[in-house]
Amino acid sequence: MAAGSPSAARWIRAKAAVPVIGGSLAYMHDPLEFMRQLHDRHGAVAPVAMPGGGPAVFVLGPDACGAVLQNGDKAFVNGWELLVGPFFHRGLMLLDGAEHKQHRRILQQAFTRGRIEAYTAALHPAVAGELGTWRAAARFPAYPALKRLTLNLATQIFMGGHRIADPAELDRVNRAFIDCVQAAGAILRVAVAGNKWHRATRGRATLERFLTGQLPAAREAGGDDLFSVLTRVEDEDGTRFGDADVVNHMIFLLMAAHDTTTSTVSTAMYHLGRHPDWQERVRAETQALGPEPTVQQLNDLPDLDMVIKECQRLVPPVPVLARRTVKDTEVAGRRIAAGTRAVVCLQLSHYLPEYWTRPEAFDPERFSPQRREDRSHRFAWAPFGGGVHKCLGMAFSDIEVRTVLTQILGRFRWSVPAGYVPPMSNVSLPYPKDGLPIDLRAPVALNG
Ligand code: HEM
Repeated sequence: MAAGSPSAARWIRAKAAVPVIGGSLAYMHDPLEFMRQLHDRHGAVAPVAMPGGGPAVFVLGPDACGAVLQNGDKAFVNGWELLVGPFFHRGLMLLDGAEHKQHRRILQQAFTRGRIEAYTAALHPAVAGELGTWRAAARFPAYPALKRLTLNLATQIFMGGHRIADPAELDRVNRAFIDCVQAAGAILRVAVAGNKWHRATRGRATLERFLTGQLPAAREAGGDDLFSVLTRVEDEDGTRFGDADVVNHMIFLLMAAHDTTTSTVSTAMYHLGRHPDWQERVRAETQALGPEPTVQQLNDLPDLDMVIKECQRLVPPVPVLARRTVKDTEVAGRRIAAGTRAVVCLQLSHYLPEYWTRPEAFDPERFSPQRREDRSHRFAWAPFGGGVHKCLGMAFSDIEVRTVLTQILGRFRWSVPAGYVPPMSNVSLPYPKDGLPIDLRAPVALNG
């Protein structure tokens, strides 16, 4: 979808409008405002200065984002290596071309409907166990509690935690996992004794050692956890992953699933805490569910569906995607030279008034069948990306988010003070810096 003829297209200016430190600080302070200003000033492709140097652009608006993600002339490859390469090494998102295609075909077999049903069956008791530890409190720190919850779900559903008999070992693995996840938010991206990058490098090594050691047991168990499943999935030609591939994909999947799911649930807790009418509405919808709803039942919750979509519009867990050009190309009438880093700004599209009415407002009804504002443009709502790298865990994440939210709604009522807006960290994936304190009240009388 490269726009404009080559002769009409203008080369993107090599010189960035904003210096690297100023630009990085402006982005971290308010990414959406930064994107808006670039869009107003430069249109769909804006030159920026990025840490590490070299030519770089921000890609803005759904036309341009769609063109890059669909990658018609194959000019773009993933650009994540620089940001998360050491920890996500050879994860699916970091592969390209034929190799990516082959690995994705195999990995897809771990996310079929049948597999998701099996993961969901294991999710219910795991979520119930975690929520059983929550206690009502006036300033309950929702974000760290949700992070703990999703981490434990990952250990159970992904890694087959029940096979880890030694609690000290389980702790070590959880710690290593947390260290790796936190590195994405490191400002200093060089290992210096004791810093985030250093801890993450050690964490990655611990995870590799642990998963490699557990591989024979995971293979033998033939279980329904993701780790066991990865040891035996194969594509139509019977190709399977080698041991190193299983370990690399496991580590990436743990990371890909963790902060993203936590972010969506925590955004939903914030908005449902702020809008008690919506909280009651989705609670009423979920009350008819039994303690262990099926995938079908969880998918058939239209109000909750609208709330989740609206939360992912307002706070996309992955607000920008990283790409780089391997040849000269053209996007929205602007020519981009080979070797340029491209930051695909999904978040801006979620807020453009051309596509959304009152984009700043929490208004789940915009996704109702009567309005379907997300259909205003194919890439107006794109929290899961698009093109060949579109999120592979989308269906599973949706079920995980629904399972967690329905169980929370069944156990608690909560609110946030009027006018409270959580201060967000935007160094890597967005999260509330203050831990999202909520007034958590328990218990809700079920069906009452
Ligand atoms: C709300 C939750 C989630 C969001 C918003 C999200 C978002 C994304 C986005 C935007 C991408 C595209 C990256 C790119 O194009 O560079 C992606 C890729 C990916 N996601 Fe998710 N994700 C979520 C949850 C999950 C979960 C739960 C899993 C696994 C269980 C997962 C697995 C993956 C994988 C494997 C890829 C790489 C796909 C590829 O490169 O072919 N994600 N995700």
